[in-house]
Amino acid sequence: MVQGIKIRMKVNGQWREAETTPDRLLIDLLREEFGLTGTKKGCGEGECGACTVILNGRTALACLIPAAKAEGADILTIEGVTPEQGLHPIQQAFQDEGAVQCGYCTPGMVMTAKVLLDGDPCPTEAEIKRAISGNICRCTGYTKIVAAIVRSAAVLRGETPAPPAGVDK
Ligand code: FES
Ligand code: FES
Repeated sequence: MVQGIKIRMKVNGQWREAETTPDRLLIDLLREEFGLTGTKKGCGEGECGACTVILNGRTALACLIPAAKAEGADILTIEGVTPEQGLHPIQQAFQDEGAVQCGYCTPGMVMTAKVLLDGDPCPTEAEIKRAISGNICRCTGYTKIVAAIVRSAAVLRGETPAPPAGVDK
């Protein structure tokens, strides 16, 4: 019988404890143990970015990390980004720009965008495209997603962004 491993990690600002096994992945712990189902499991192989969380300030693929390796880590999931009322400016921009189609990739995109904008409040479109290159959207091209990140960057800088495409000025 596989011995359980007790682990402790900070999740969305709160220390949480759990018992895990060596083969259990962080994404499964977050979703099944902590009920944080906003983090999506797509490919399960590190290819799509749907499971992106922020681990110690950097993006991380929760489908590749054994839960036990996250012992002591500081983890932020989409639930921790979302304020109690309303939406985070990045989430709001995704909504305003119509960048949420099926929405499956959206939490991972938002987490990647947050790390990008935390580090650089004025990224170019090329830098945005590079940052999200590991996040796959199956629904459409990336035009609206890039526009949403440009928009949220402006909002976070305290500027008034241009109206979304298709909206009269
Ligand atoms: S589910 Fe983790 S990268 Fe696709
Ligand atoms: S909105 Fe459907 S995968 Fe991106």
